[in-house]
Amino acid sequence: MDRDDGVFELLKEYNQQHIIKLLEKLEGKEKEELVEQISKVDFHQIMELYENTKKDIEIKENKIEEIHYLDKAKLNKAEMDIFNELGEKVIVSGHYAVITMAGGQGTRLGHTGPKGTFKLDVYGKGKYLFEILAENLKEANKKYNTIIPWYIMTSRENNDETQEFLEKNNYFGYDKNSVMLFEQGELPLVNLEGKMLIGKDMKIKEASDGNGGVFTSLRKTGMLADMKERGVKWIFIGGVDNAILKMADTTLLGMAIDKNVEIASKSVVKANPHEKVGVFCKMNGHPKVIEYSELPKSMAEEVDYNGELKYGESHIMCNLFTIEAIEKISKEPLIYHSAVKKNSYIDENGIEIIPDMPNSYKFEAFIFDSFELFDDIAILRGKREDDFAPVKNKDGVDSPKTAKELYEKYWERQC
Ligand code: UD1
Repeated sequence: MDRDDGVFELLKEYNQQHIIKLLEKLEGKEKEELVEQISKVDFHQIMELYENTKKDIEIKENKIEEIHYLDKAKLNKAEMDIFNELGEKVIVSGHYAVITMAGGQGTRLGHTGPKGTFKLDVYGKGKYLFEILAENLKEANKKYNTIIPWYIMTSRENNDETQEFLEKNNYFGYDKNSVMLFEQGELPLVNLEGKMLIGKDMKIKEASDGNGGVFTSLRKTGMLADMKERGVKWIFIGGVDNAILKMADTTLLGMAIDKNVEIASKSVVKANPHEKVGVFCKMNGHPKVIEYSELPKSMAEEVDYNGELKYGESHIMCNLFTIEAIEKISKEPLIYHSAVKKNSYIDENGIEIIPDMPNSYKFEAFIFDSFELFDDIAILRGKREDDFAPVKNKDGVDSPKTAKELYEKYWERQC
């Protein structure tokens, strides 16, 4: 059986006859490239993910409890000092690194291009999101007399543009040798009948595998090895879209060390029961975040005896891991979540179809699903006005307008 026969068999087995038809029409390089791509696709995994879309997410079957957290505002001076000292020691001795997850595009924002290249209209002149993050890290470098290695996760879609943007802006004054870009993985998109979509380039259409892809990508791209070589022990992983994100918070780091845990996270109190944030809880005794899109209404609205939301600690994408934790997670498969999205494709006659309704599943791993692999997590409740100025939507809540206000007020208070 030659390679083509093997490929045809595989496609038949997984009910992808439309790709066989396409292969029969293609020749030369185009055909070779598609065959090569097919050989790398894990059809079994994709079909399993597709079958899972038909099942309901059953949270109810699990034992769900509130999670314990420490409120930063309630720490006394001695506790603060202990945490800060512990955290500072790690940063000063060069054992700390930061990852920015910047694989997403600013679609919801109406921005074309990598989200980090969005300019927030602050202080008249404005600042790019990447610029704000670079400034935050440069300030920490100055304070702790070090250079924190900064890893930036991009996607195939935005890697080159991100690289060019950072080069053009001279990495906003960050030490270029300490900025490492790496690409996250991708997974095929399938239509509602389980058929993989074909793109204009005559290949199976793929999309980023979600921010949970960060762990395997770190290993596959050699970044985990790079971290080990540099002697990194603690890694902060944050998003690209929080204008007041603190990436070198010694209180959070020190608390994690003091509590002897492998993972830690910062939370803020949920603004209202239906705010679009993930919430912390314990599931079957393990730390867990339930994403807003999957949170049952009753759970979102449940209050405790004080009248406070029972699941009111928001995940604000401000997470800390030991290097051992990252290594462990990078070898474990995380679950994938599915979302129905609109995606254009090429039909069997070679015509591009631009759907006006969601027509396909995108599979994404979420960073916080890794928490379940651990027995415990240390959570530090911060303050919204000090820790969370998300830039998500074009207008309304979590928009550039609200983030600008929070950013400017935050910096006014620091003066
Ligand atoms: C995310 C969190 C949510 C949290 C909220 C706080 C997830 C799944 N959800 O929601 O729990 O309350 O932030 O702001 O994490 N990214 C990649 N690659 C991808 C997808 C995303 O790098 O494939 C990055 C984005 O660039 C961004 C971050 O992950 O920095 C958040 O991703 P996004 O998909 O926008 O999540 P939210 O819906 O905002």
